[in-house]
Amino acid sequence: MDAEKTGRQLVKYTFYKLDTAAFLRLPETRQRDAKLDFIATVRGFNRRMLLRSYCLVGLRRDVDFLLWTVAEEVEAFQQLETAIRNSALGPYLTVSRSFLAGTKRSLYDISLPEDGQHDPGEERIRIEPGDSRYLFVYPFIKTRAWYALSHEERQEMITEHIRIGRRYPEIRLNTTYSYGIDDQEFVVAFEGDNLHDFVDLVNDLRFSAASMYTQVDTPMHVAIAMSLPEVMDALGGATVGEVVEEDSAERGDWVPVAAVDELPQDAALCVPYGRQQVALFRTNGHVYALNNRCPHARGPLCEGTLRPTDDGPAVLCPWHEALFSLETGKTLSGPSPRDAETFQVRVEDGMVYIARSAQEKQQHE
Ligand code: FES
Repeated sequence: MDAEKTGRQLVKYTFYKLDTAAFLRLPETRQRDAKLDFIATVRGFNRRMLLRSYCLVGLRRDVDFLLWTVAEEVEAFQQLETAIRNSALGPYLTVSRSFLAGTKRSLYDISLPEDGQHDPGEERIRIEPGDSRYLFVYPFIKTRAWYALSHEERQEMITEHIRIGRRYPEIRLNTTYSYGIDDQEFVVAFEGDNLHDFVDLVNDLRFSAASMYTQVDTPMHVAIAMSLPEVMDALGGATVGEVVEEDSAERGDWVPVAAVDELPQDAALCVPYGRQQVALFRTNGHVYALNNRCPHARGPLCEGTLRPTDDGPAVLCPWHEALFSLETGKTLSGPSPRDAETFQVRVEDGMVYIARSAQEKQQHE
C-alpha cells in the first residue's frame, strides 16, 4: 500500500560533519560559494519534502548539523543526498550518522484512564514539527524480553510512561518506527524549549518499569533549530547569513505546491510549504488551504473529515473534533481556542499556488 493511501510518511535524520581543516583553508570566496550552493541545493527540495535544519556545532564532536526530512517516498532522500554530494560543499561533508524511519500508529492505547486524553505524539502518522528551539534525537531499541511480555503487561508500562510524560507538557514527542529499514527499532525525537525540562523528563523515565527493557538509547543528540544560512555560518569561515534571502515560502510568498490533478476530490492533500505543512482541500469546485497543524493540539487536519455547514465547507479535526471553516479557518465548534491558519490560493495553468495571508505575513515579519 503506498503512502498516498495510508497517509504514512517516511522520516530521515541525516547528521553531517564538515571537514573543517580542509574547508577553512579554502579562499573565502570559495567558502562562501560552497555555502551558497549548498543552501540553494537543499532549498531546491522544499517542494518534495518537509525539511528542517538544526545545528550541533560545539555540542557533539562527531556531528555539525542535522537535516530532519519528511517525505512520501524514500527516493526523495536519496536524490537529496546525491544533490548535496554534487554541491560545492559536498566534498567537505561526511554523513556521520543517519536514521531512517516511518510513521505508524501506536499498538497501545495511548490515553490515560483518568482523563481519556490521547497523547498526540504517539498517534500521528504524519509528522507535524512544532517551532521549538531544540530537538533531542536518539535511536531506540527494546530488549527481546519486551516482546515476550503480554500486551497487557506492556500496556501497563506504556501507560506509566505516558503519565510521566504528562508532567512535562512543553516537551513534545515524535516517535517513528525503523523495524526492518534501519538498525534501530525506533527513532525518538523530542521537541522542547528547555534543556533542563528534558533532563528531568529522561531522569524520571529511568525509574519507570519500561526502562528495564531498553537495550539501546544512544547516541543522544541535542540540536538547535536554525535556518540553513544560520547553520552554514555556525560552521565557521566566510559568512552568508546577510546575503541569503529568506526562502520564498518562509517569506510567505506565492509558491506552486501541487498540480490540480493531484488533489483528491472532497479530500485533502498535505504539501510542504517552507517549515510548515499545508492541507489542501478540493471541494465544491474550489481549492482551500489550511495549516495542517490543528491549533488545538497539533492534530493533522489533512486527515480530518469534510462537513457542509452554514458557513460553507468545513473540516473536522480527527483528534478532538474541532470544526474549522475551510474558507476562513474560523473555529465553528469544538475545543480549539484559536482559529486555523488559512492560506491564499490561486490556480494557474493547472498548478495550485499558495501564499500566506497578509495578516499572517505581518505577524511573521
Ligand atoms: S488536535 Fe484537538 S481538536 Fe484538533
